[in-house]
Amino acid sequence: MNYNKTAIDVYRKFSSFEGNQHIANEYALKCILRLTNDFKVKKILEIGLGIGCIVDAVLEFSKEYGEIDYYGTENNDFCLQQLKHNVNQYNKIKLYSDVSKINPDEKFDFIIIDGKDESLKYIQNLAYKNTVIFIEGGRADQVALVKNYFPNAIHVEMISDYKNPNYGPFESKCWSGGGQLIFPYPSMRMKIYFWKEKIATYLKRKRRNNK
Ligand SMILES: C[S@@+](CC[C@H](N)C(=O)[O-])C[C@H]1O[C@@H](n2cnc3c(N)ncnc32)[C@H](O)[C@@H]1O
Repeated sequence: MNYNKTAIDVYRKFSSFEGNQHIANEYALKCILRLTNDFKVKKILEIGLGIGCIVDAVLEFSKEYGEIDYYGTENNDFCLQQLKHNVNQYNKIKLYSDVSKINPDEKFDFIIIDGKDESLKYIQNLAYKNTVIFIEGGRADQVALVKNYFPNAIHVEMISDYKNPNYGPFESKCWSGGGQLIFPYPSMRMKIYFWKEKIATYLKRKRRNNK
């Protein structure tokens, strides 16, 4: 499945929208779609929908991948208005103002964190043994919180080895940003995935240093 093409197309689309300064990086979108595909994700929670770049990418991808149940949080009025215009399948989003409002019986295969939320601790109720967590960008404070909530979690950074494309809102002299992959309850398969990502990140860092 061509998740990289979907990521590029959606990033390009959102690059021209008002409020584009906080959208997810192109490489982060690629990571999110790859993880969705690799872990056969069916139910997603995104914390910080913003103007809708991530959710639009996932729902566009779902046209070839299959149905995805998408929950998201947002409380910024500007973003709430923009979401309606920007996301093709807006009606599929189950929208909440923050994580604490979600029924604790709901369990998510994939939790994407791309915004601040004072009630982040409630993700402890929403994760289960198959859950994958991805934090967009660096966000060391949120990584530390999540590791604190899940003491057995394993964490690896996902980085790109290419610079921001010139059609986007971010400086083309900077690397396209990825994110932080966390497995709260790591299975053997997750541990293998973690090590593969660790090696990939190590090799990309070396390539970056030589560029
Ligand atoms: C990094 S942004 C989320 C981006 C989102 N996931 C996307 O890909 O479009 C984090 C938070 O910043 C706020 N935000 C995002 N874009 C904004 C804008 N253009 N103006 C004001 N607040 C914004 C929202 O509350 C959002 O939850």
